Amino acid sequence: MEALNLLLNRSSFGKLQAPAPNEEELNVIYKAALRAPDHKGLRPWRFLVYRTEAALNKLGNMFLEATIAEEGEVDEAKRQKILNMPHRAPVLIIAIAQYQDSPKVPHIEQAISCGCAVHGMLYALQAQGFAGYWRTGGLAFNNHLKAALDLKVTDEIIGFLYMGTPMVSVVKPDSVETADYFFEQ
Ligand SMILES: Cc1cc2nc3c(=O)[nH]c(=O)nc-3n(C[C@H](O)[C@H](O)[C@H](O)COP(=O)(O)O)c2cc1C
Repeated sequence: MEALNLLLNRSSFGKLQAPAPNEEELNVIYKAALRAPDHKGLRPWRFLVYRTEAALNKLGNMFLEATIAEEGEVDEAKRQKILNMPHRAPVLIIAIAQYQDSPKVPHIEQAISCGCAVHGMLYALQAQGFAGYWRTGGLAFNNHLKAALDLKVTDEIIGFLYMGTPMVSVVKPDSVETADYFFEQ
């Protein structure tokens, strides 16, 4: 796909199914993430990849336990909903800002870098005929989940990136008036 066409037409897609990107396609997606702008080259990120039934099930259990630890018992319907969350797509990547100590690079810049990495993965997905959806929600800020994932207290979950094949063709995004946001001075 031509570069500008991709940049101007990136679109998220929540309804995702198999096939997932194969090994080679995933590697392109990983490399796109690692080209994110990165002040001082700190590489302040880690990505946890879930793409087997067992891994997605395990993550669903972690989601459930972390929710119960935070909110108390949940009813059966909510329990099933939470267990199924990782199965919204065949591949799920948790993007984590793993902050490095740096006198020059505050945490916000490192979080932005990690966010840019997720953005890069969305582009690399779409360029290869796939789609993705970036989510956060309460679990991204749940310390019990962070502990279960072996994250440091200072690490932050920047997003859950769901990846797969869109169930219907990706819609062209609405056009936005550039003049509403850009002001020549
Ligand atoms: C940090 C971040 C967190 C987000 N979390 C959610 C979320 O939890 N649920 C959701 O529906 N959309 C979430 N979004 C928005 C979607 O990923 C998506 O960008 C939005 O639906 C607009 O679609 P578009 O990307 O095609 O313009 C999040 C976006 C960002 C950048």
